[in-house]
Amino acid sequence: MKLIEVKDYQEMSKRAAEFIIAKVRAADAINLGLATGGTPVGTYEYMIEDHKQNYTSYRDVTTFNLDEYVGLSGSNPNSYRYYMDEKLFNHIDIVKLNTHIPNGDAADMEKECLRYENQIEQHGGIDLQVLGIGSNGHIGFNEPGTSFESSTHIVDLAPSTREANARYFDNLDEVPDKAVTMGIATILKSREILLLASGEKKRDALAKLFNGEVDERFPASILKNHPCVTIIADKAAIPEGVIARK
Ligand code: PGA
Repeated sequence: MKLIEVKDYQEMSKRAAEFIIAKVRAADAINLGLATGGTPVGTYEYMIEDHKQNYTSYRDVTTFNLDEYVGLSGSNPNSYRYYMDEKLFNHIDIVKLNTHIPNGDAADMEKECLRYENQIEQHGGIDLQVLGIGSNGHIGFNEPGTSFESSTHIVDLAPSTREANARYFDNLDEVPDKAVTMGIATILKSREILLLASGEKKRDALAKLFNGEVDERFPASILKNHPCVTIIADKAAIPEGVIARK
């Protein structure tokens, strides 16, 4: 894992956007894995700004999001489909049909999991997956204890995850208790991974990632076994004693 240290959230967002934009520009076509949550919002803002100023095109980009809440349709402002449309897709020249997010509102969610997993495979897999990290080490919605062999599946959200995400809802009761997420094996199949972390609240998670064993009780630890992981983290998120490249 390569760690790049940056000053703050703004710089993390800028570096992350530059990283992604360089890959988009270098490839004839690319499959991007995207994430939601608070962390990548600034990255998407820089990508939009660059699209407007430098005309980086997303016509040949296909995207696959990590996860979605179960029970929310894409028109619900708390769904990740809505988030992605609002925060990125509506502002760049991507073809909407090429943007894929698991359907949290499918009649048969088991079938939906299989469909999504197969869809990623049929498109040739993910070239670059963007990840955040939960304070409990989750990646996507893969909570502690999830099998490293897991493919796209339904999860019960951990109380800490529901509490962390309650800020987007009117109250905690409204946060869905289930989600559909790419599995850990799905994420690990990505050819390259970019993990973003900002702020003091992520420092313990990064300490466990760097200093701990590879263990299913801390899902992100599996990233140590992936050959091509870059972490962009700001000063506040980097634990003492971990040496980073500036
Ligand atoms: P956050 O979530 O970006 O909102 O901190 C990250 C995650 O839970 O993976």
